[in-house]
Amino acid sequence: MVEKEDISTGGEPGISNKQTWWKEAIVYQLYPRSFKDSNDDGIGDIRGIISRLDYLQSLGINVVWLNPVFSSPNDDMGYDVSDYRNIMTEMGTMDDFEELLKGLHQRGIKLIADLVLNHTSDEHEWFVRSKSSRSDPFRNFYHWWPAEKGIPPKRSSVFHEEGAWTYDEQTDSYYLHYFSRKQPDLNWENPAVRKEMYAIMKFWLDKGVDGFRLDAFTFISKESGYPEIPEQYKDDYFSYYSSGPRLHDYLQEMNREVFCKYDLMTVGEASGITSGQALLFTGSERKELQTLYHFDHANWGRKTTSLYYPDENNRKLSDLKKIFTSWNTAFENDGWGAVYFTTHDQSRMVSRFGNDTTYRKESSKLLFTFLLSMRATPYIYQGDEISMRNIRFENITDYRDLHTINYYNHLAASGGDVQAFLTAQKEVARDNSRTPFQWSTKKNAGFTNGTPWINVNPDYDTINMESAEKDTGSTLHYVREMIALRKSLPVFVYGDYTLMEEESETLFIYTRRLEDTRVLVALNFSDHQNPLTLPADFTLVKVLINNYPGVNNEINNKVTLQPWQAIILEYK
Ligand code: NOJ
Repeated sequence: MVEKEDISTGGEPGISNKQTWWKEAIVYQLYPRSFKDSNDDGIGDIRGIISRLDYLQSLGINVVWLNPVFSSPNDDMGYDVSDYRNIMTEMGTMDDFEELLKGLHQRGIKLIADLVLNHTSDEHEWFVRSKSSRSDPFRNFYHWWPAEKGIPPKRSSVFHEEGAWTYDEQTDSYYLHYFSRKQPDLNWENPAVRKEMYAIMKFWLDKGVDGFRLDAFTFISKESGYPEIPEQYKDDYFSYYSSGPRLHDYLQEMNREVFCKYDLMTVGEASGITSGQALLFTGSERKELQTLYHFDHANWGRKTTSLYYPDENNRKLSDLKKIFTSWNTAFENDGWGAVYFTTHDQSRMVSRFGNDTTYRKESSKLLFTFLLSMRATPYIYQGDEISMRNIRFENITDYRDLHTINYYNHLAASGGDVQAFLTAQKEVARDNSRTPFQWSTKKNAGFTNGTPWINVNPDYDTINMESAEKDTGSTLHYVREMIALRKSLPVFVYGDYTLMEEESETLFIYTRRLEDTRVLVALNFSDHQNPLTLPADFTLVKVLINNYPGVNNEINNKVTLQPWQAIILEYK
């Protein structure tokens, strides 16, 4: 049974089978720096997005997650905010933002802003004040370790192999930064920090934004005194950082102070969180967040000890199925999840989970069939709908992401194997998904008339939006069809999920069921034909979608799926 959720519960989480707009949402992640440049400075901007609003609407999506557009020196591409109440110069003005919001709302699309909670830029006035003197009123807005106490206990940094404490001469102290040196961590133990952050949230909600994606929220609570990290976490500092003692207190306070007062959508970036912990954040009784997204499948196919190297031996489809199935189980009765493949932090989905050469279109369509038929809010990353691929840069000078550049420099300085690293980056680097959107065959794929801030993938002569529009067999047309299908049948949102063929290393098969509606999703994750066994009591009602039109439309007991074939069957 699907029940209408009482909307007066506002930003509170909900019981799984209760209807809410954010469970029914189809989210498009928009990375503005690379979407569309309107003033030819080579950087995508808000007016560029405004010029493509009709395109967004044509997809059928109903929520946009906009990566940060707040003032920033862009050490980490906007995740280092220097003023939370202003728009980054390169992106435009507040008027532009308001026009964008209005234009989206007029088209029935909501906007969720990307809020960086754990840290600011070192150029934020709070940090400038904080580092100016040990007695400044803003000193306690950040984490400091006075040098007279010796070297601070080890903390790892995501972006610097040298660690997460950096010495600052001005006050003879070290400050803490889990990410880059230009991203000092805020001290959430300080109530004044929390008050400021809640005021910022209200500022944007009152402006009309419809919710937040909460960046690195699991890291905000830190153990006072910064003790040595317990042995069990030594090789897994993300889990330690995500288990701060007051994390849930802060989230509950955030909900009380802000979320419950608005009809909004919250999605947390849940680094270091397991499916077993999912309901601690999203359970209806907890009054924290509504949804979160995990990283388990982002670590699949990679060496577990490092984010930097792909691992061909760790790419079993059965493992991938276990991951998605365990997250489905976590939200079976309560809370709600998110499902995605690409983000701005992951390489392109077709290059990673599909086949981006021989079966580029087929495998892209298959991956979309999965995303849009799972029991979680689906996220589509810009450019995937035209099956953009990894750019696979050859040279370090092509990269713009500090993650890649810093680690390369570290290896170069310590005599490490930079060539092996560059080879690995072709598959895993974040810049693979940050190259400009390919609009057309025009210069720079129609993204800019200036010099793009990062190279455009040279494959834009064939892979671009205009060509995809003209080709009725394109991924773009299929995505629209699949979105329309998800919207037309509540079974895709609220129906139960049951995995079949658990052990198969090539087939991902599951059923979804809501009351009398039953659908079977069959996905052939391989370059080969594959026989499919249907449930014993199967009677076909209708083929709902098929990425090989005409092939297997007549379903009887024996079905052979084509390479990367995706098909959804309604049955009795
Ligand atoms: C997660 C963001 O998605 C990523 O792009 C960023 O580098 C870190 N958080 C730090 O804010």
